[in-house]
Amino acid sequence: METLLAAVEASGTAAALRTGRWSYAAVNAAHILGIALLVGPIMTLDLRMLGLWRSVPLAPLAVVLRPVAASGLAVAVAAGLALFSVQAAHYGDLALFQAKLALIIAGAGGALALHRAAGPTLERAAPGRLRLHALLSISCWLGALVCGRLIAFVEG
Ligand code: HEM
Repeated sequence: METLLAAVEASGTAAALRTGRWSYAAVNAAHILGIALLVGPIMTLDLRMLGLWRSVPLAPLAVVLRPVAASGLAVAVAAGLALFSVQAAHYGDLALFQAKLALIIAGAGGALALHRAAGPTLERAAPGRLRLHALLSISCWLGALVCGRLIAFVEG
């Protein structure tokens, strides 16, 4: 594992981010854009599943917000992996970073499982299941967000 992390830190991507004038800032901005596209739509859908805005049908909301959130996740992961390469060994050792990854995997896995069981517009899900999913999903994504932000404030 240590060899792999050292190889990641020695990669061209990591070198470009370390030495470029604006490259790290640009990738960091892309990471934030991905997070916004991911967490905003997911929270909106989750709050709808919890019972807010009952007059708005869930299915069309899911049709719009699901692909936006999926694109946001793809952007956040791509940019996040590039940021990770700059100090791979440091992040790899950090409990906060490991917790963040676990929360992302749990959040994404939960969303995939729900859509697989209930259909793309969630038409087959019981209200109780939707509420439980929404609570877990909000916890995972907000937890990942907070862990991501806190990483800058902890010592290795
Ligand atoms: C595989 C996916 C991801 C990887 C590898 C990753 C990696 C990183 C890295 C290395 C940083 C810089 C940490 C630092 O030294 O300050 C960071 C920042 C951050 N990440 Fe991620 N990340 C990923 C996905 C996500 C997701 C899905 C979220 C939100 C739910 C998120 C939220 C944040 C936040 C809020 C920051 C702080 C940004 C800032 O203050 O500029 N990350 N991420």
